[in-house]
Amino acid sequence: MTESASQKPSGRGRFITFEGGEGTGKSTQIRKLADRLNAARLRTLVTREPGGSPGAEIMRHLVLSGMGKLLGPEAETLLFAAARDDHVRTVIAPALKQGIWVLCDRFADSTRAYQGSLGSVPDSLINAMQRVTIGDLKPDLTIILDLPVETGLKRAAVRRGSGAPDRFEGENLRFHQGLREAYRKIAADDPARCVLIDADSDPDTVAGRVWTALCERLLPTPASVVSA
Ligand code: TYD
Repeated sequence: MTESASQKPSGRGRFITFEGGEGTGKSTQIRKLADRLNAARLRTLVTREPGGSPGAEIMRHLVLSGMGKLLGPEAETLLFAAARDDHVRTVIAPALKQGIWVLCDRFADSTRAYQGSLGSVPDSLINAMQRVTIGDLKPDLTIILDLPVETGLKRAAVRRGSGAPDRFEGENLRFHQGLREAYRKIAADDPARCVLIDADSDPDTVAGRVWTALCERLLPTPASVVSA
């Protein structure tokens, strides 16, 4: 979790989440967006899930090591929910209250895509966990990075080097194709919150698309902010 400060708090901050399959470039794009918002003198906090708070980082270790898989998809969903509950209460909600813009690498849509669509966990459990962990704290904007699965997995393999794939990177091609479809459906089902961004270009081009989406949705007078 990294925070930058440049502006006095004024009102609630904005909550922006980044979603997408493996190797879609979420962390690169979050860094680029944070730089741009900082240049516009907005205070930002970059965080991630699973994790983002001391308690949630412990849960992260549990799920990504594959231990959650042994318990089955429902229990794994509860582990992600427990991590999210801690992260929201101790990090995200307090930051937003202070006027900080929170940029989060993955959030509740990851549970819906990975555990719901791919793990076949029923919507009733996903929705119940969502009510408990995030309540009314819906993201103001969700950027979903979309990329052909083969390209994403190649990028993830390069990033990993000689290390072993984690719990989800190790799933087969069909799983990752299903994941891409699940994210496209999430974007189509909630167009007021989600923007599907074509991530199959160089990082600066994709960053330009993300910035345009953000300006359209959250910065009604972009020129004044860019030149601030
Ligand atoms: P991470 O190393 O952060 O990967 P990535 O760069 O792809 O974000 O690993 C997080 C993994 O956890 C990723 O494969 C998605 C998965 N995940 C879920 O299955 N459910 C969730 O609710 C969250 C937040 C993540």
